[in-house]
Amino acid sequence: MANRHTINLTVDQARYSDDVEPRMLLVQYLRERLGKTGTVVGCDTTNCGACTVHLDGVSVKSCTMFAVQADGHEVTTIEGLEHDGELHPVQKAFHECHALQCGFCTPGMIMQSIDLLNEHPDPDEETVRNGLEGNLCRCTGYQNIVKAVQAAAKESSTAPAEGVA
Ligand code: FES
Ligand code: FES
Repeated sequence: MANRHTINLTVDQARYSDDVEPRMLLVQYLRERLGKTGTVVGCDTTNCGACTVHLDGVSVKSCTMFAVQADGHEVTTIEGLEHDGELHPVQKAFHECHALQCGFCTPGMIMQSIDLLNEHPDPDEETVRNGLEGNLCRCTGYQNIVKAVQAAAKESSTAPAEGVA
């Protein structure tokens, strides 16, 4: 019988306790155990960033860590960003700036953008492009993604009650 470990973690503000095999990836746990299919898998080379989530508020590629490594931590996925029916400011900005086409990269882009804005609240274009270099988009050409991140930054600076985090 396969070796299993019990993990206790918080995902999108709900607490979970589960037995997992040590080899189970965090992205597999999120999608296959918790049904959080908003976090997607776009490659098998740790390259695309589509699987990006937050671990204790910092972005990580959930295909590059094991579920057991999230034991005792707090994970936020794209599905945990909305509050009281309101999209997160970065989600809104992606929508308003038409920063997506097929949308496959979008969950990871948004999670990475939030992390970027936490570190650089008013980023110039180069900072945005550097901050998103680990996230690939095959459709948009990135122009509107950059615009969306800068629009979210502007929105947050004019609405202090609603931060980007
Ligand atoms: S699925 Fe994780 S980096 Fe591509
Ligand atoms: S919108 Fe299609 S991959 Fe980015």
